[in-house]
Amino acid sequence: MRIVVGISGASGSLLAAKTIEALLNHKVRVSLVASNPARMVWQHEMNMSYGESIEEWSYNDNFEHFAIGDFKAPIASGTYPTNGMVIVPSSMATISAVSKGLSDNLIRRAADVCLKERRPLVVVPRESPLNAIHLGNMKDLATFGVTILPPDPPYYLPINTLAESAEFTAQKVLNSLGVTSQLPKEMQYGGPTT
Ligand SMILES: Cc1cc2nc3c(=O)[nH]c(=O)nc-3n(C[C@H](O)[C@H](O)[C@H](O)COP(=O)(O)O)c2cc1C
Repeated sequence: MRIVVGISGASGSLLAAKTIEALLNHKVRVSLVASNPARMVWQHEMNMSYGESIEEWSYNDNFEHFAIGDFKAPIASGTYPTNGMVIVPSSMATISAVSKGLSDNLIRRAADVCLKERRPLVVVPRESPLNAIHLGNMKDLATFGVTILPPDPPYYLPINTLAESAEFTAQKVLNSLGVTSQLPKEMQYGGPTT
């Protein structure tokens, strides 16, 4: 199984880190691409550079990385077999571009490929509050079959940290992409913690 992961320049780099970690833990092949604003946010929020994180993931044989301007990358083509894509976190700019078919970088092109090939596409939006433009673009994406998965914390679980909340979102992403068929027992409502 191969999943494309796009990291755009919204706040919430931790969400991307936890999603990549969860996919690799499930032995899923990860094809990663991040925008330039995403790299800036990463440095700010993760206390390490994006390049350092790439280096760590690169030890895993299931990991590959592409530059944002690399339109010759295999994930820019529908002929490259993947099982879907997640954009995590997704900025409103990327949501706007994908909803309009504006494929001007590799994240947006890979998302467009998912739509045309009718593969699962999950978008984890990060903005607050949302204006009518944001909401309209997300509604359009939902109409095209995209899963809009806000990174809401699971208020019904006894979690204490942002990391735990991001792990929960990552598990929901895996579920939506068909990597897993259900959430781990401890993350289900009515589980041992309630
Ligand atoms: C530290 C930082 C945090 C940001 N957080 C958000 C955010 O949460 N949501 C958002 O839509 N844009 C956010 N932005 C703005 C985007 O980075 C900007 O709109 C950029 O053009 C997005 O480009 P991209 O979607 O190609 O990554 C943030 C920018 C910075 C520098």
